[in-house]
Amino acid sequence: MKFFVDTADTDAIAELNNLGMVDGVTTNPSLIMKSGRDIKEVTKQICEMVDGPVSAETVALDAEGMIAEGRELAKIADNITIKVPLTWDGLKACKVLTGEGRMVNVTLCFSANQALLAAKAGATFISPFIGRLDDLNIDGLDLIADIREIYDNYGFETNILAASIRTANHMSECAKIGADVATAPPNVIKAMANHVLTDKGLDAFLKDWASTGQKIL
Ligand code: G3P
Repeated sequence: MKFFVDTADTDAIAELNNLGMVDGVTTNPSLIMKSGRDIKEVTKQICEMVDGPVSAETVALDAEGMIAEGRELAKIADNITIKVPLTWDGLKACKVLTGEGRMVNVTLCFSANQALLAAKAGATFISPFIGRLDDLNIDGLDLIADIREIYDNYGFETNILAASIRTANHMSECAKIGADVATAPPNVIKAMANHVLTDKGLDAFLKDWASTGQKIL
């Protein structure tokens, strides 16, 4: 499973990228706002930092506007993926932009029907939002499994980009289901390393080592 980092915080991206943990980056209007930076400037910097796809989101509501904004964003770098919302206008924009050979990430997906439409429109990535379904007591991981089953039934090439990931458990569950990509905030990726038994075991090793009076260096 590929790891994308869901942030416009370039320092956080750099830290994980140096560990080989970054296969791509996703941003959205809220993450751009949080960065406090100009969308084109910060997106250009991110595209220069990572080799993989970098999602930058359009903000128009009509297909023509999304297409124009998408073409503008695509000028930033070759690894730009244009993000459009899962609306009929977004699907129209997806069809046109992928037809021009551009990568498109269809976002704000909350149902298998929406994901089916995105695949039919030629989306490069589909972004089903797990956490926001969980917030409504609907298991967002079930949506990932449903989309995986449907795409595999018909050989759709659209990549499942699991999004709105809130926990380390979401990451491992998405990997078990077979999501192609999971995009997560930096802290969630880091939390994947945490386990109480690892901490307890390390403490015990070091206490025993201290009792030997030995040093390695
Ligand atoms: O990429 C989509 C992601 O940023 C949304 O996450 O936690 O705001 O639902 P969240």
